[in-house]
Amino acid sequence: MNTADAGPSERLKRAGPFLKWAGGKGQLLSQFASLYPRKIERYLEPFVGSAAVFFDLRERFAGLRATVSDNNKELIRCYEDVRDDVEGLIRRLRQHKARHGREHYYGVRGRSLGRLSPVARSARLIYLNKTCYNGLYRVNARGEFNVPIGSYKNPGIFKEDQFRAASAALQEVRLEVRDFSACLRDARAGAFVYFDPPYDPVSRTASFTGYTERGFGVTEQERLAGIFRELDAKGCLVMLSNSDTPLIRKLYRGFRLKSVTARRAINSNGRRRGAIGELVVMNYAPGKG
Ligand SMILES: C[S@@+](CC[C@H](N)C(=O)[O-])C[C@H]1O[C@@H](n2cnc3c(N)ncnc32)[C@H](O)[C@@H]1O
Repeated sequence: MNTADAGPSERLKRAGPFLKWAGGKGQLLSQFASLYPRKIERYLEPFVGSAAVFFDLRERFAGLRATVSDNNKELIRCYEDVRDDVEGLIRRLRQHKARHGREHYYGVRGRSLGRLSPVARSARLIYLNKTCYNGLYRVNARGEFNVPIGSYKNPGIFKEDQFRAASAALQEVRLEVRDFSACLRDARAGAFVYFDPPYDPVSRTASFTGYTERGFGVTEQERLAGIFRELDAKGCLVMLSNSDTPLIRKLYRGFRLKSVTARRAINSNGRRRGAIGELVVMNYAPGKG
């Protein structure tokens, strides 16, 4: 069946991440399935990235009311455009796909964002994300995307049906550009909050934290642990994933910890890629709540 002819519930089932994002949780979803609370009505995801967990929960929990946010403005604008003008976005992506090549890539990369319409900016982000080296979203100190072209023979770029499915899943979802701490304002008792912050580095050389201009160091991990505890005190159900490091174990002492295994796709030292222990922290008993 062509997704363009599919009904809304059929489309929801096919929705999934359409961006390659550092730390994407796609490969952990099967391990996460048994760790979610039994029932979720209100959902907040303050480090949404490629939204793998959001799309998964949207399919699992009918009627889910979600607020997803990130401090990356371009990323959130992109979700807004997928939600509100998916056909306009698809038209622009078709043009990029037809013209793809070295000259087109660097022309698009060098374009001044201020001159582009919102949908053109989002199409640019998706196109560069899918064709750049390592699928790595990285900006320099001036906030400019500076990754070279990847060497894919035939980059997929995008599937139209995938975007229509994501658009269906994003309907009625609240999207916000904001710091993770802002979730404290609107998370009420009973809400489920999932945090997937930039990783605490397992070693000094494996410190990929440059998603945006500002990194995410120890102080930020501590600030996040404070928010986790405040949400716990408010009666929210809170889940967090991070690297299995002494700092993370110390910050979340007293909460339920579960080890899962992930393959890290992005690491500053290529030889260190491979299976790695990741921790899931929960303030509730999985399958209950
Ligand atoms: C590990 S990624 C999230 C991965 C995501 N869960 C997925 O499946 O792709 C971390 C995200 O946190 C965002 N971020 C970094 N610092 C932040 C902050 N202070 N407040 C909100 N978002 C932040 C980054 O822009 C990035 O998208």
